Amino acid sequence: MEIAVQCQNPTTDNSDCVVVGVYEGGILSPAATLVDLASGGALRTLLDTGDFTGACGDTQLLYQVPGVAAARVLVLGLGSHGKVKDSQFRKAALAAARALQGAHVGRASLHLLDIPVIRRSAPACAKILVQAVTDAEYHFDRHKKPADAPQRPISELQLSIPENDTAALAELQGAVAEAHVTARAVAWTRDMANEPGNICTPTWLAEQAEAMAGRLGIKSTILGPDAMEALGMHLLLGVAHGSRQPPRLIILEYRGGAENQAPIVLVGKGLTFDAGGISLKPADKMDEMKYDMCGGASALAAIQAAAELQLPLNIVTVVPASENLPDGQATKPGDIHRSMNGMSVEVVNTDAEGRLILADALTYVERFEPDVVIDMATLTGACIIALGHQTAAVMGNHEGLVHDLIAAGKESMDRVWELPLFEEYQEQLKSPVADLSNVGGRPAGTITAACFLSRFTENYHWAHLDIAGVAWKSGEHKNATGRPVPLLVEYLLRRARQVA
Ligand code: BES
Ligand code: MN
Ligand code: ZN
Repeated sequence: MEIAVQCQNPTTDNSDCVVVGVYEGGILSPAATLVDLASGGALRTLLDTGDFTGACGDTQLLYQVPGVAAARVLVLGLGSHGKVKDSQFRKAALAAARALQGAHVGRASLHLLDIPVIRRSAPACAKILVQAVTDAEYHFDRHKKPADAPQRPISELQLSIPENDTAALAELQGAVAEAHVTARAVAWTRDMANEPGNICTPTWLAEQAEAMAGRLGIKSTILGPDAMEALGMHLLLGVAHGSRQPPRLIILEYRGGAENQAPIVLVGKGLTFDAGGISLKPADKMDEMKYDMCGGASALAAIQAAAELQLPLNIVTVVPASENLPDGQATKPGDIHRSMNGMSVEVVNTDAEGRLILADALTYVERFEPDVVIDMATLTGACIIALGHQTAAVMGNHEGLVHDLIAAGKESMDRVWELPLFEEYQEQLKSPVADLSNVGGRPAGTITAACFLSRFTENYHWAHLDIAGVAWKSGEHKNATGRPVPLLVEYLLRRARQVA
């Protein structure tokens, strides 16, 4: 899909469909007013029928509107006037995208940047529009036979602003370029994560990462079991014991910054299928554990976006990739493994495997002398209980970093909320036979998982994102979301602005 910003009047816009916004109570946006005037009251007539009220996300497609060049006008409900929130704006944008899909719209033109959104600038609104439309357009159907109804993708998306508003053009174009790169990174993450476990193995994920890195001139290194053995990564190896698929440590290095600039390190959980190991999970929805590599895919996608945007930063992505399966060779509850940093860990529950593979990766990244380390993982079911599917959890050992991530999440509508990492929680990880237990019981499960990680991150500034609730949509319409890629890209953009 091509995306462009254009100055044009909605009445002379010759796209296949122009989209204009209407508020509740029959209040027209500036673009809608132009269409109404040119057509001798077509929108007023629609509102007078009472069929369309302007409720947020309502849509009405009109054909052959007099005085309008485009073949179609999509009237979009925005909700209450003067009170449009970012969540409402996104909801309306998603509704518009779905309505456009129902029509033969190749070239769609959104005249929606004339809508004031509370605490959002026009460039921020443009980003919301781009992400909403690309999210709605996303399909994962490569394993299905071609559908009976032909797909009608939007080939060209125009974000249109008033004719006389040329001053705003450059800034909007910059925002749209960033949003487009972000949207592609989100889609890449979704593609990786939606691929089933029989295809997306640690080796396959490493190959995809290498191919992407090759395209963008990013350095890639892939480690296998022998190298892990030599490094002493017995936590990662222990998780992989029950699998026929060899584990991989994927390392990508993008050097866009000065040689002496300490890198931002992204670590992502790349568990390509989590059956729980000997502590086997129940069968219900176990299929969704193919998504347990979403953190890893997001970390890879973020470095991809940074390279495409040529950010003046040094960034390293490290993804420990493994399966977690039951087998005669598998790690058993009670087994003790030694981590790369020398600590012994009693594996009380083999289903708490994410923290094990991350621990060795987090020790490994010390060699990069990082400025900050951010890890992301579908780590605990408890996080879904705490924060649901709307918000990810953030915890860390550095207030400034946690704050920056919360701010980047707000800006990108990919929100995170901090949970406390108080020292007292560490008690729950005591083992009578090893330095550390890999589980801390049911209370505060998300926090004790982060406590476990914190034992491997003492030598640098670190934050952890538990994305178990936000990385995919569950159930009948299961699908990866690509979160937290928008947050990560926004964080990197902000860091790049500080350098420049
Ligand atoms: N990948 C899961 C976490 C998860 C569960 C994500 C459900 C999304 C939905 C992780 O490896 C896991 O199994 N965690 C356990 C930890 C427990 C054994 C301490 C959990 O949350 O149940
Ligand atoms: Mn698990
Ligand atoms: Zn897992």
